[in-house]
Amino acid sequence: MPPTNIEELRLLFAVSRALGEGSDLKTTLYMVLDILSTSLGMIRGTVTILNPLRDEISIEVAHGLSKSAIERGKYKVGEGVTGKVIETGTPFSVPKISKEPLFLNRTATRRRSETEKELSFICVPIKKGTQVVGALSVDRPYDESYSLEEGEGLLSIVAAMIAQHVINLETVYFEQEQLRQENQRLREELTRKYRITNIIGNSNKMKDVFQMISQVSRSNATVLIRGESGTGKELVASAIHYAGVRAKNPFVKVNCAAIPANLIESEMFGHERGAFTGAIRQKVGKFEMADRGTIFLDEIGAVSMEVQAKLLRVIQEKEFERVGGTKTIKSDVRIIAATNKNLEEAVEKGEFREDLYYRLNVFPIYLPPLRERRTDILLLADYFLEKYAAENRKDIGSFSKTTVDMLMNYHWPGNVRELENCIERAVLLCEEGVIQGYHLPPSIQAVKETDLSPGTSLEDAVENIERDRMVDALKSTRGNMAKAAKIVGLTERRFAYRAKKYGIDFRWYR
Ligand SMILES: Nc1ncnc2c1ncn2[C@@H]1O[C@H](COP(=O)(O)OP(=O)(O)OP(=O)(O)O)[C@@H](O)[C@H]1O
Ligand SMILES: [Mg+2]
Repeated sequence: MPPTNIEELRLLFAVSRALGEGSDLKTTLYMVLDILSTSLGMIRGTVTILNPLRDEISIEVAHGLSKSAIERGKYKVGEGVTGKVIETGTPFSVPKISKEPLFLNRTATRRRSETEKELSFICVPIKKGTQVVGALSVDRPYDESYSLEEGEGLLSIVAAMIAQHVINLETVYFEQEQLRQENQRLREELTRKYRITNIIGNSNKMKDVFQMISQVSRSNATVLIRGESGTGKELVASAIHYAGVRAKNPFVKVNCAAIPANLIESEMFGHERGAFTGAIRQKVGKFEMADRGTIFLDEIGAVSMEVQAKLLRVIQEKEFERVGGTKTIKSDVRIIAATNKNLEEAVEKGEFREDLYYRLNVFPIYLPPLRERRTDILLLADYFLEKYAAENRKDIGSFSKTTVDMLMNYHWPGNVRELENCIERAVLLCEEGVIQGYHLPPSIQAVKETDLSPGTSLEDAVENIERDRMVDALKSTRGNMAKAAKIVGLTERRFAYRAKKYGIDFRWYR
């Protein structure tokens, strides 16, 4: 029905102007409802949007309703008047709310004293083509002389005008919902992945570790995880987070050794725009990102004294400033730190603040090297075999006897990581049902014939030690021969010569 008087034309004009203003959708819709309320004598107006994923209707924007009333306003399609309108796609009016059994009054805002005054309710669908995407409704005081059909006609025009905007919102909803679901799926996956039961170990030393993890994960205590490279420090840090009350909130990792010294502060605390050359926009730091979650400070032994001072303050006061900023930022984070460095020695040498050391060392967990828990070697080897065989769709069930001996006798300087890599590689190479000695890297194969048992000749034992030291050096330098030579005190030329003699190829360690 076309608008019949100047008043209505004025209203439609105001609505179209509000819609054209291009501020955000909620504000726009709110403005539209505001216009309806002043020119229609309406008490409440709502724009209701169908959530396409949940088959549920929820009020998006409401005028004259409190926030909690808006939240209560959730209906299923087909419920109540709004539900009927959305289901049928036709307008529906109620002259007197108190006489209408369909009226659900979910928002519980229409109290008795008000209903005694009598309200009329007009609701029209918002349509995208023939599809109903929502509804627009108003409450107005009951007035005998007012034509509800005319009201419906006017509201239908407004509904058509806002339809386009609502449709955009529907897309946003849809995307948000998909993101939310994706997020939840990922979180569940992480929680599964970092379950404490995925940390393998049956040795007494690891049993102690499990005990400590379950004790500390329920608390907010700062944890310091110690242990050689590849012993599972990061794995344990994640397990503590995902087993605790903060599991739903972020687990944020900072690798203090991998970030250049001049950037670490901004990485941790963020920076303001223009704080230094290259700071072209504001950056949120890891401490802010980890709010209500956990921050994992990996390789804590690598941070400078300057950053140590700032860390001390965050730990003590839970507050900090962004680089180049003056605003103090609060963050509720749980701290887990890890290091393979001897921190006590660093404190002695004055390289690590003693006060920070004590703040971090509240609950230390020490992860023993693999060579000190040999009973775990085969357990881990089986676990990785199963994992990588499945991943590569290979039907490999076991290790040969010789392989088992080799794995058991090797000293695993790279710990669990080295074992994992070694099994992954063996699975890739293996074309039969059983892993054989020759599927292992040469450095591990070599162990078998010449181990350090008392029967070994002195010459062999010396060579073994030499070879092991060279391999260790190559591992710690990631296959950098020059650096490795320096560590063991050989010239690069001599190192290369001996490596050749022992059949060591530096490229294996890259
Ligand atoms: N007990 C364990 N059970 C199963 N997997 C393990 C275990 N310990 C370590 N791993 C695996 O070994 C690899 C190395 O572990 P992680 O990265 O946690 O070691 P790290 O101590 O942090 O080493 P780095 O000091 O070199 O950073 C990872 O793939 C991890 O999943
Ligand atoms: Mg690590």
